[in-house]
Amino acid sequence: MIIKSAEFQCSNTRTDRLPAPVLPEYAFIGRSNVGKSSLINMLVQKKGLAKTSQTPGKTQLINHFLINENWQLVDLPGYGYAKTSRSNRSDWEKFIRYYLRNRENLQCVFTLIDSRLTPQKIDLEFCSWLGENGIPFVLVFTKADKQSKVKSDQNMAKFRKSILELFEEAPPQFITSAETDEGRDEVLAFIDDLNKKFEKLDIVRPDPSEI
Ligand code: GTP
Ligand code: MG
Repeated sequence: MIIKSAEFQCSNTRTDRLPAPVLPEYAFIGRSNVGKSSLINMLVQKKGLAKTSQTPGKTQLINHFLINENWQLVDLPGYGYAKTSRSNRSDWEKFIRYYLRNRENLQCVFTLIDSRLTPQKIDLEFCSWLGENGIPFVLVFTKADKQSKVKSDQNMAKFRKSILELFEEAPPQFITSAETDEGRDEVLAFIDDLNKKFEKLDIVRPDPSEI
């Protein structure tokens, strides 16, 4: 897929102010600092579109981006950020979990996993929750440039093994690097495919300008 345009749409703290659910939408989630915002910028080849930082906890809002004027990427705040207070964390839980469970145009959740790490409980628990709630998701291993391919492959195989203890089938997975653009074509082809399926759905959608 060729990216012709990528624009910031809006930031939200409340799920009732989200854009009308008329275009196919893909949400990026994972631990704080795993590289969600960087991956979005890499996919659309626009540095600085989604704000990135070396300090965990940069993204605090639900940020929507409109791509090619016909689909949406969503940058979500990270989970597992140690400095977030307990009450903040439970707000995160409510807000994000509500969004993930109720967003009707959400086609797939991209769950990002740091390819340098062995399986982490927090990531497995999150995948398990997605599964329990019937939310379609794929795994995206990030920061592949930071270590050898052998090491990434080992960690991905371990994660897959842990996932297969929770699910009968493992979801599709991708290996990516925001530095080298590894995985870009594969992720965009996957999205393109889902966009086409969405177009074929026989439902009457309102014109966004009339809402
Ligand atoms: P929060 O919004 O805080 O949850 O973080 P995030 O998941 O959006 O991470 P972000 O994209 O801000 O990246 C965190 C740090 O990791 C930044 O310093 C990035 O430059 C770095 N980073 C992200 N992806 C990659 C990658 O693929 N390779 C390398 N080498 N660094 C990366
Ligand atoms: Mg971010």
